[in-house]
Amino acid sequence: MPDGSMTSAAMPTLSSGFDHLRPRDFDRLSKFIHGYCGIKLPPSKRTMLEGRLRRRLRETGLPDLATYCNFLFEKGGLDEELVHLIDVVTTNKTEFFREPSHFQFLAQTAVPRLLAARRTGSVRPLKLWSAACSNGAEPYTLAMVMAELGLQRPELQSTIIATDICTEVLEAAILGIYPAAMAESIPLALRQRYMMKSKISARAQVRVVPGLRRQVQFGRLNLMDEVYPVGRDIDVIFCRNILIYFDRPTQELVLQNLCNCLNPGGYLFLGHSESLADFVLPLAPVGNTIFRRL
Ligand SMILES: C[S@@+](CC[C@H](N)C(=O)[O-])C[C@H]1O[C@@H](n2cnc3c(N)ncnc32)[C@H](O)[C@@H]1O
Repeated sequence: MPDGSMTSAAMPTLSSGFDHLRPRDFDRLSKFIHGYCGIKLPPSKRTMLEGRLRRRLRETGLPDLATYCNFLFEKGGLDEELVHLIDVVTTNKTEFFREPSHFQFLAQTAVPRLLAARRTGSVRPLKLWSAACSNGAEPYTLAMVMAELGLQRPELQSTIIATDICTEVLEAAILGIYPAAMAESIPLALRQRYMMKSKISARAQVRVVPGLRRQVQFGRLNLMDEVYPVGRDIDVIFCRNILIYFDRPTQELVLQNLCNCLNPGGYLFLGHSESLADFVLPLAPVGNTIFRRL
């Protein structure tokens, strides 16, 4: 990171007291971000981007957005800054048991059907993937649901992969520590079984129990990559509330790649405001934003 000295070429654009992105810098940034991680940043997102980059500026000690962009796009800048840039541009909103009907369908319909379709004697664990897992609330919800099902069906084994492009949320996910308020969306019996309260009561934090943390393997994966290194034998994919940030060609590409990872008969769950639009994909609808691989 360069020192914070400001050259005249990088004078900040100041109006209404805030430092703004120069139009050329906004264009460069939005093109780069779209190409790298698929997130579309139309001009209407400019204020949002500026606000988030200002947070990053404070961490770097650079004086203004123009200096930041000059640094970013000069030789070697992206190598150093890419991970942080992606951390600030991603929106990581999530919660435990978000869109709860999906977890009901998983427990009551998808898992029983997947088990029924298995060859007699097969002991292969079911493979679940949370493909934009944010801080872990979604994959730990999956882990709780699978653990509960396992209490009734001891033969049920499962592994859960959880990936995201944002390293900050992945670090939080691996720790598995959350504000106690966030755990309130977990049904009480499950909260008592799978969440530990912080010993320091003033902290108002909970932590996922070690047994459940061990169930989930976290890793960084960019859904814009051509191949997803998770195998082609996934039984259940949750890819929720991320396609909305992508344009149509990117959505189609990602959906096609997800299909390539799903076993025939496997399930894909999208966010409630997402759809397959009119893409031609080997998927049949089986519930509200739930699809089965043909
Ligand atoms: C709004 S959150 C959704 C989290 C969770 N799936 C849910 O529904 O609660 C979207 C997540 O997608 C991640 N993301 C954005 N672009 C991505 C990409 N190209 N590849 C993988 N993850 C991405 C973000 O970092 C963010 O954590």
